[in-house]
Amino acid sequence: MSKVTVVGAGNVGATCANVLAFKKIADEVIMLDVKEGVAEGKAMDMNQTAQLLEFSSRIKGVTNDYAATANSDVVVITSGIPRKPGMTREELIGVNAGIVKSVAENILKYSPNAILVIISNPMDTMTYLASKVTGLPKHRIVGMGGALDSSRFKYYLSEALGVNPTEVEGMVIGGHGDTTMIPVARLATYKGIPVSDLLSKEALDKVVADTMVGGATLTGLLGTSAWYAPGAAGAAVVESIIHDQKKVVPCCVSLEGEYGQNDICIGVPVVLGKNGWEKIIDLKLTAEEKEKFEASASAVRKTNNVLKEINAI
Ligand code: LAC
Repeated sequence: MSKVTVVGAGNVGATCANVLAFKKIADEVIMLDVKEGVAEGKAMDMNQTAQLLEFSSRIKGVTNDYAATANSDVVVITSGIPRKPGMTREELIGVNAGIVKSVAENILKYSPNAILVIISNPMDTMTYLASKVTGLPKHRIVGMGGALDSSRFKYYLSEALGVNPTEVEGMVIGGHGDTTMIPVARLATYKGIPVSDLLSKEALDKVVADTMVGGATLTGLLGTSAWYAPGAAGAAVVESIIHDQKKVVPCCVSLEGEYGQNDICIGVPVVLGKNGWEKIIDLKLTAEEKEKFEASASAVRKTNNVLKEINAI
């Protein structure tokens, strides 16, 4: 029996819980929210789709009842406020740091062995915060940003190529920010063929640019952050962990010398399995990519430093 808790039953959390149940990724899904009745209501609504969508997973919604989350295998943290049009993810830090810290502490009281998947923004800094305040072994803390950004990258690539998105490979590394993420166009392929052989430089540059502002474009259209892809990306990360799939997914993890970085959580390709992230794939970056990665790490570090200024760590 696998049990997954999703903290935060807002758009992203509820979508994540829904995908976890619908795709039968977890047998039991607990949704916890601070707003009375919201998680309960959304869980009830989802459970009423079980017969229609043919799943037997059970979803339970609770208001602030951490005891109900006890012994979860994986806990997805989505809590916090989303961004409004024109806001960067980094501007959310003041409010979200306090929330993520208290959620992580409460969760571990009841699920001391859980693997934490962080979605709350600014995601790289919230992952770093979770690792600092919980002191958990580094493999048990995974930020999901790269999974989302890579999915957007593959979508835009498939549109430019006019092909099925599942036939496209591509990854986004670095920070989960409009200017910090690095879609690695050089390594993107369509059925093993480098996409640079199939798309013009202009077309590929546009794919990269669209990917980087993927979240901001949606925030502009929706008036709040996106949720279908963020929720599904969170569920995909959980799936590889719970089912020990050993998939290679770019995720935000703590680096200790890899990619020339220390004391930072940032996106790099990792193998996801039952122990959390199990291995970092050390890509051979070109000088230009390395430079971008270092700039990205500096930007993430700058946001991390705010945690100290506001006494969150
Ligand atoms: C996005 C938010 C969830 O990229 O970070 O849509």
